[in-house]
Amino acid sequence: MSCVIAMAGKGGTGKTTIASLIVRIIRDKKLGSILAIDADPNSNLGELLGVETKESIGSILDDIGAHPEKVPVSMGKDAFIEYRAQSAIAESEGYDVLTMGRPEGPGCYCYVNNALRNVMSKLINDYDFVIIDNAAGLEHLSRRTTRQADSLVVVSDASVVGLKAAGRIVELARELKIKIKQGFLIINRFNGKIPEEKVKELGLKYLGVIPFDSKIEKISLSTGSLLELKEDNASLRTLNKLGEEIWQCN
Ligand SMILES: Nc1ncnc2c1ncn2[C@@H]1O[C@H](COP(=O)(O)OP(=O)(O)O)[C@@H](O)[C@H]1O
Ligand SMILES: [Mg+2]
Repeated sequence: MSCVIAMAGKGGTGKTTIASLIVRIIRDKKLGSILAIDADPNSNLGELLGVETKESIGSILDDIGAHPEKVPVSMGKDAFIEYRAQSAIAESEGYDVLTMGRPEGPGCYCYVNNALRNVMSKLINDYDFVIIDNAAGLEHLSRRTTRQADSLVVVSDASVVGLKAAGRIVELARELKIKIKQGFLIINRFNGKIPEEKVKELGLKYLGVIPFDSKIEKISLSTGSLLELKEDNASLRTLNKLGEEIWQCN
């Protein structure tokens, strides 16, 4: 069984950044094979992980949906989708990256979508760790990747509005009937302490704060990758300490 870690939170809070740091930590600790899934159409997980992303699952769906004749008769639809999805996986040192993208086509290629769900759950089982960088609304978790996660990592700023939004994600996950073993809260880009009463009753286990990091900012101003961060980088070290339960997947 793989350990599925799903990121969630409002746009701009640091989901993709922290997803990349988690990938980096799991890789450096040599805990097992890793698949990072970019499930936010407006995201850049591949870039932050220093890989050229290939074809997205969305464009594959479009292609097969619009050209069903491309499915080799001898192969069958499921096998063909699996084959195409496999070829969309970009490999890097110690981890793979898969981009979900978004189908551009007009209709719902429902049959392809259904087949994809089977393929995704098979694919996910091939890895020890799967980190899913979601869009704010969790729609991929509910439709296109997996309906369960061992760790849901909600990233928030320290504001009252931000924390309310974090609490709503927990409700949303419940409404969508996404099975979550453990939900965590990380406050990102904040230099200070959070009073306990602000973070309790959100339905999440509060892990702590990752302060503003000028090294991360610098990388974001170029097209750099977070793999460039030195091993003793402050954010990496902080997350390494406070995040242990995230990748323990108990
Ligand atoms: N701890 C941090 N210190 C400094 N900048 C950060 C930190 N976390 C995230 N950022 C920056 O904030 C911006 C948004 O982060 P990102 O991870 O893309 O958010 P999200 O994926 O939630 O939309 C990026 O430019 C990123 O470099
Ligand atoms: Mg993002």
